Amino acid sequence: MHSIRNFFCGQWSSTERLDEKTVIITGANTGIGKETARDLAKRGARIIMACRDMERGEAARKEIAEDSGNQNIVLKRLDLSNTKSIREFAELINKEEQQLNILINNAGVMLCPFSKTADGFEMQIGVNHLGHFLLTFLLLDLLKRSAPARVVNVASVAHTWVSGIQLDDINSEKAYNARRAYGQSKLANILCTRSLAKRLQGSGVTVYSLHPGVVQTELWRHLSAPVQVAVRVFSPFTKTSVQGAQTSVYCAVEPALEKDSGDYYSDCAPARCSRAAKDDEMAEKLWELSCQLLGIHWD
Ligand SMILES: NC(=O)c1ccc[n+]([C@@H]2O[C@H](COP(=O)([O-])OP(=O)(O)OC[C@H]3O[C@@H](n4cnc5c(N)ncnc54)[C@H](OP(=O)(O)O)[C@@H]3O)[C@@H](O)[C@H]2O)c1
Repeated sequence: MHSIRNFFCGQWSSTERLDEKTVIITGANTGIGKETARDLAKRGARIIMACRDMERGEAARKEIAEDSGNQNIVLKRLDLSNTKSIREFAELINKEEQQLNILINNAGVMLCPFSKTADGFEMQIGVNHLGHFLLTFLLLDLLKRSAPARVVNVASVAHTWVSGIQLDDINSEKAYNARRAYGQSKLANILCTRSLAKRLQGSGVTVYSLHPGVVQTELWRHLSAPVQVAVRVFSPFTKTSVQGAQTSVYCAVEPALEKDSGDYYSDCAPARCSRAAKDDEMAEKLWELSCQLLGIHWD
């Protein structure tokens, strides 16, 4: 089974160190985020695990610290479905941290029943896109002061499920389709990666989006039992969390990427995204709408 999996996974290995660097990873208590944290901890970075469940977060923090031998791993509370929590988290980071070299916007929710965030956004667009958009905005000055720095947005091939952003109904209030809402949120991740890269040209902060592969994690928790069984049956063709973290680690660490910004990766290599994901006009409209919804001014 291991060899079948390896056949389908882009492999990347590097001994690059991250000593003296600080990394934030959202949703680091499980799945791809946890394995990304483990890898970067082994490279010597200070890791800030941004999680909403402090009990599960602490268990993961302890495990990673023991496994990596790196004691510079801290856990901070962050609930991306609540802008108050995002602002409190960012305020703490801006107050306590001298630098931030890598921000990995990894947390995500997929195919959940219709629900709203504390601020009234549809949950998938609210957590996957708007929450991370606000978080990045609030941490950007620190990232710029720490340049060279990177922002890594964990998107998905699911961005191809939609042909655009529903700018007139981004919260799916007229009609909710869980698949469309997830696809839209991941398309938003890629569009905003491109827009942010343009805005950050010359700043020393570079931005990447990626598809981690089809990975056996808890992301599938909202799927029906038969579908979850089917996912397990096909597990030899899917990735483990360690394999799923490889492209995140690659985008965060690979020195050669420092000259690139705004692109989309998969299997530790540049990848093709959909035509909608390259629509700069839509990207700008989404940017404006996101700022308006969040009440922020970001040129
Ligand atoms: N797995 C795949 O096949 C796949 C494919 C393409 C893209 N992705 C993307 O990869 C990323 C990581 O997913 P995964 O597969 O590792 O899924 P996962 O195992 O379900 O992990 C998701 C993480 O996000 C956290 N999270 C969810 N809602 C949050 C909120 N409101 N505030 C803070 N954290 C929140 C979860 O915290 P809790 O543990 O507290 O719920 C968990 O730590 C996601 O962005 C996902 O869209 C995954």
